[in-house]
This record gives sequence, structure tokens and C-alpha cells, in this order.
Amino acid sequence: VPLGQIIGLPDFAPAAEQLLNAKAWSYYSAGATDELTLALNKSAYNAILFRPRVMIDVDTVDTRTQFLGHKTSLPIFVAPAGMAKLSHPDGEAAFSKVAGEHGIIQFISTNASAGLETIIDARAEPDQTFFMQLYVDKKREKSEALIKKIEDLGRLKAIFVTVDAAAPGKREADERGKAEIEVASGISGGKIQSDSKGGGIGRSVGGFIDPKLNWSDIGWLRRHTRLPIGLKGIQTVEDAKRAYDMGCEAIYLSNHGGRALDGSPPALYTLLEINKFYPEILRSGKCEIYIDGGIRRGTDVVKALCLGAKGVGMGRPFMYALTYGEDGVAHAIEIMRDEIETTMRLLGVTKLSQLGPHLLNTRALDPL
Ligand code: FNR
Repeated sequence: VPLGQIIGLPDFAPAAEQLLNAKAWSYYSAGATDELTLALNKSAYNAILFRPRVMIDVDTVDTRTQFLGHKTSLPIFVAPAGMAKLSHPDGEAAFSKVAGEHGIIQFISTNASAGLETIIDARAEPDQTFFMQLYVDKKREKSEALIKKIEDLGRLKAIFVTVDAAAPGKREADERGKAEIEVASGISGGKIQSDSKGGGIGRSVGGFIDPKLNWSDIGWLRRHTRLPIGLKGIQTVEDAKRAYDMGCEAIYLSNHGGRALDGSPPALYTLLEINKFYPEILRSGKCEIYIDGGIRRGTDVVKALCLGAKGVGMGRPFMYALTYGEDGVAHAIEIMRDEIETTMRLLGVTKLSQLGPHLLNTRALDPL
């Protein structure tokens, strides 16, 4: 499919399926077991409607905002996803270049295929901001060395610890077929290999992740870094409140793109829970909320922002866009910019700070 024929982000998936090796496609696209959560991630957004206001001058709209005090031209970011080199030889370095050119922030996965220096050195802007996603290693000294490196490199401005991966999700499409692709992470060292359970790339590269990770480890992290800490994979208002009470600077609502626990809620439901039962977090100014899972449209982004999310991540769409190299990633960002601006205009807002729950009808989801 020529890039010019890709009009919306959903168009990237079938195009990538054609371009990618079958094993890489199943690793990227798979959700856990029956893929119930994977399907809900997208349909949850469809259940929310807008309450558009009209007769407002929307000639100029401004999509700029800040994540943890760092500028971004759009309220979207590249979610951390491992093994980008399965999509294109430039891997995560292509994201750094294009994210810098377009003024958006990239989260780097602990399972990135390229090394940290390679990714950061490929940046388009000298003062470009990155956030780091951390999988805590069973061998804590390895994580401590990685955190030290993150601090020393100076360009990574926050650490987001993934907390929804205490066990690898059972992704059946990924388990089928041998893991014959030879790629290892340039950061964690996690390798792709088959074993008696199957050929799951996700499972084999995540073998080092510590299932003992628990709330007391926030103290351990604080002893090793002065960077802001976010928890990625919060799925209930109770855990959001706990993270907030423990002083986390960010809460990243996610179910790992439907790849971890099948039957876990779309992050959008968790955001609605926070709005209903603990809106203090949203008002405090001390803790920012990020969200991902199933976001494919500018309208999805704006809905999440109306409910108080500061930024919205996308995993698969950027991985699929990367099959076209840098041009594909740039095209994906331009499509989202255009859709976000169109949504703002048709909703009657000119700045992101004007978004709020008054612009939504969430009644279909209220019984939760
Ligand atoms: C992921 N995700 C992920 N998350 C994380 O914290 N560390 C990681 O290494 C990875 N790796 C990864 C690989 C691939 C191929 C995918 C698709 C996802 C989850 C990712 O950060 C994000 O939460 C989801 O991708 C969001 O859902 P969508 O946008 O893919 O629907």
C-alpha cells in the first residue's frame, strides 16, 4: 500500500500485515488469550459521545501542552514498545528522529532493540526530551546500573515503571510458530527464543522481569533516582490513589494494549473511575495522568483529554507506521495532528486547557 493511500491510523495495520514477517506481525498485533480487552480498548472510546459547542471562532487552534514540564507540540506520545527493529532496520532510532522533528516525546522501552545511546544520539533536536520505561530486573543491580545510565545520559527526564507485567501475558498468536527471528534487546539483553511453551517473543524477551516488584519498591527507586517516577499499568482507582499518596509524579493508565490480563478494563474505564471516585488526583497539579490502549483517532485523544488525561500514548500504530521507516512515522503524526485539530474546531475549543468533561456525554458508560 503506498503511503499516500494511508488516510487514517487504522489503515496502517493491514498495510503492516502485508509488509511484516509473519512472526513479527503476530508479536505486534497479538492480545492475551481471547483478546477481549484488546477489542474493548477501542470500542470503549466509541461509547463516549461529544457535546460540541458551536459559533465559536476556531480559526486558530493550539495543540501544544507539557508533559511533566517538558514541551510537546501535541498531546500524544510514542508508547514504549519493544523490538522496533522487527518493523524496520532503523528501529527505535527512527522514532527519535521523527519525534524530535515533530516536537513530540518518545517513551523508550527497556526491551528496545537498539541501545540507549543509539536511540538518543539519533534525536533531531539537541535538547529533545525522552521518557524511560523501566522493567525492573530480578537482578536488581542490573536495574540500578540502568537507572544510573539513564541519569548520566541526561536526556531521559522521567522513569515510568511498568507494573502490569508481573507475569507474561498468554498471547496465543505470538506463541504459535517458532521464534526464529534473531533480535535481542540493546538495553535489557532480553533475547528471542523458543521453549517448551512455544515461540512467544513477548514471553522470551520479558523473562528477566521481577515478579516480586511491590509498593515498597517505590522507596528503592527513590533511593536510586531523582527523576520523576510514573507507574505504567495502573488499572483501578484504588491503585491510582495509592500511587498518588506515595508521591508518584505520574500515573499511566494502561492494560498493556490488551496483552497482559485478558478481561482487564480499558484504561478509559479507569480514568472514568478516577473522575467519579477520586478526582482529587486530577485537580492536585501534583500528579499527571497518562493513558493508552486502542487510541487510533484524534477524537479518541480528545475524549481522554476531556476526562483529565495529560497525554495519550500509541503503541501499535507507531510500530505499524515504522514499517515505512521515518516517512511512515511522520505520516502517522501528521494524520493525528490534523485529526486533533479538526476535532477541536468541531468541538468549539481553541486550546487544550479548554477541554473538560462538560464536552462529553459518557452516559453509556455510567453504570460502571
Ligand atoms: C508493548 N507494550 C509495552 N509496554 C511496556 O511497558 N514495555 C514494553 O516493552 C512494551 N512492549 C510492547 C511491544 C509491543 C509490540 C506492543 C504492541 C506493546 C505496551 C505499550 O506500551 C502500550 O501500552 C500499548 O501498545 C498501547 O496499546 P495500543 O496503542 O497498541 O493499542
